[in-house]
Amino acid sequence: MREIRICFVCLGNICRSPAAEGIARVLGAQYKWLTEVDSVGLGPWHVGEPPHPTMRRVAQQAGFPLEDLRARQIRTADFQHFDWIYAMDHSVWQDLHRMQQKTPGTAEVSFFLEAAGLGKQDVPDPYYGGIEDFKQSFDLIYRGTQALLQKLETCYNR
Ligand code: 4NP
Repeated sequence: MREIRICFVCLGNICRSPAAEGIARVLGAQYKWLTEVDSVGLGPWHVGEPPHPTMRRVAQQAGFPLEDLRARQIRTADFQHFDWIYAMDHSVWQDLHRMQQKTPGTAEVSFFLEAAGLGKQDVPDPYYGGIEDFKQSFDLIYRGTQALLQKLETCYNR
């Protein structure tokens, strides 16, 4: 069986991508092929910090604790280490492609919700919003992560 490592990427690694990581850790526990789930940010601003308190609260209420996660910035080794790298929005996706051109590695860079089969749409950045914005993003991330893992299951469960 192939061992698959996946990583979610947003700007700061404190709102969207850690939510996807927390959800994928719980939902993915049933899949033997999924050996690693991680998340990173493009920027350095929040390195070492736990996820945003509002996202932690929203995720906790849905049964997905994010307390133990800490933000880190993407590094070139990630393009070698992971099988799939998922961008939470279009501009992150473009930046990842630019980085990938200068970086050796076999990771597939993919647009998160499109890869999940939910269409070419961004996960909106809730960072400057209120709790409703966080809830909306979280719900989309939840649906996306669930659909994504089910798709990967059809590829790798053999
Ligand atoms: P995220 O949200 O990319 O979903 O973690 C953001 C967090 C921080 C910033 C921007 C977006 N920031 O500019 O610090």
